[in-house]
Amino acid sequence: MLNWLESRTGFVSMAKDFLTEDIPGGASYWYVFGSATMFAMILQITTGIFLTFFYAPSAATAWESTRAIYLNPYTHFLLSLHYWGASAMIALVFLHLLQVLIWGAYKSPRELQWIVGVLLLVVTLVLGLTGYLLPWDMDAYFASQVSLNIAGLPPGGGILQSIAQGGGTMGTDTINRFFGLHVWLMPAALVLLVGAHLAIFRWNGPAGPVVDDPRKMRPGRFWPDQMFMDAVASFVVFLIIIALSFIAPPFLDAKADPTNASFVPYPAWYFLFLFGLLNFVPVLLQGSHIQFLVEQANAPWVELFAAIVVPTIGGLIVLLLPWLDRSTTRSFASRAGILWTTFVVIACIVGLSFYAQGTIQAKIAASGVTPQTEAQILAAPEAEAPAAAAASGASSPLAAQGAKVFAQNCSGCHGAQGMGQPGVAPPLVKNPFVTGDAKKVVDVIANGLHGQTVLGQTYGAPMPAWKSSLSKNDIAAVATFIRGGLPGNSAGPVKESDVP
Ligand code: HEC
Repeated sequence: MLNWLESRTGFVSMAKDFLTEDIPGGASYWYVFGSATMFAMILQITTGIFLTFFYAPSAATAWESTRAIYLNPYTHFLLSLHYWGASAMIALVFLHLLQVLIWGAYKSPRELQWIVGVLLLVVTLVLGLTGYLLPWDMDAYFASQVSLNIAGLPPGGGILQSIAQGGGTMGTDTINRFFGLHVWLMPAALVLLVGAHLAIFRWNGPAGPVVDDPRKMRPGRFWPDQMFMDAVASFVVFLIIIALSFIAPPFLDAKADPTNASFVPYPAWYFLFLFGLLNFVPVLLQGSHIQFLVEQANAPWVELFAAIVVPTIGGLIVLLLPWLDRSTTRSFASRAGILWTTFVVIACIVGLSFYAQGTIQAKIAASGVTPQTEAQILAAPEAEAPAAAAASGASSPLAAQGAKVFAQNCSGCHGAQGMGQPGVAPPLVKNPFVTGDAKKVVDVIANGLHGQTVLGQTYGAPMPAWKSSLSKNDIAAVATFIRGGLPGNSAGPVKESDVP
């Protein structure tokens, strides 16, 4: 069997070749960070794929479908794994990079491997950022608004912001952009970069520990020792993720409400330091005693500087490190400068994170809003979803069926709750035409409409005719729903026999 496979594909010798890779100095638990990161990535891809089975990206369904995920214990666990897996992946990429940095393993000939690694960190952070928006709760909305506004800060950034946002305000288009980035573009980039990272790694071989004379190192093999250590490390990571998913599952806030401006957003922990920097620079300027700087503390350039210029320069320095650190040996003694700088930078990142945490908590306390508990949030808004509105308002099965027909065919133009969209379609709530003569409503749904509505507006595109795409029964159901099931409407039902 194996021989057959080998003769047809060469897979067996490829696997052998892969497993017998030399490891200078022998296997070590120091080398597990890369493979543990890869394990976290595979966990993210797997849980992420299954989450798309339950998640529906649009302003009318993102929060609702996330809520449904929370209400089912199995999907809730799946989401918790994905949530903690994200944190684990970011922490592991970071640790992996830090170790390479400390050991000087980015030095020639591994410059490109370092660059690909830094790009992988960036892609992972973008994945975290785009995933953060998807639940479309208060925090997702307002925290993402902060990042979108930052994208709009530099000259020409307005265009970038409106592309990412899908127009002037955040809504369904924003969710779809972020969703596309999160489930397609970034994972594809991630997998390609990991492939490149591993291929370059195989070409150069592992850097091995820092020793004066490489000839003194005892040789080792990937299989079985390193493979075993990698498996142990990944397993420990998995156990920690599972434990955290049980102990501290993520929290779903109330549905995004753009009008609630008093909400104080909190970023994901790995963005806290950037948030801290943004808050800290103005405070620093105010305390500087230099009159000019004190006056400038809240000027637009300060935000630009703290949110874009400093992080970009920082990122470029990290990216170009192999060329900036010119020492030819990897020994710690000759690299004291870079090691101390690394230490100071990390201390600053940790300090800024704590600082941000403090300012956010102070702001939340000052806003005086008592946060709702998750049980309240998950229990409350049944009546808001159209299907549920049908169940509470007009509780007939016909109206419930109509709610589904509406959600599938009409809500795209008339809005999830029939509140209409300026320039696209008129509101169906508080609309005397809709709750008036049932025969006329059925006629509009069946044959379409183009002209002035009862509310006095005209629209560029007509209301489509539905008689060829919906059954009589569906037309009666959706008419019943919009007349009696939308919030505030309470006109009588329409029977199938009323549809000509
Ligand atoms: C492509 C967008 C679009 C879709 C989809 C759509 N509508 Fe409309 N609808 C319109 C527009 C535009 C008008 C106003 C037409 C005009 O006056 O020119 C309208 C008008 C109406 C009216 C009359 C309102 C009034 O004040 O005169 C009703 C009732 C209505 N639609 C129900 C529905 C139902 C039920 C569905 C789903 C089966 C649906 N619409 C799907 C765009 C749409």
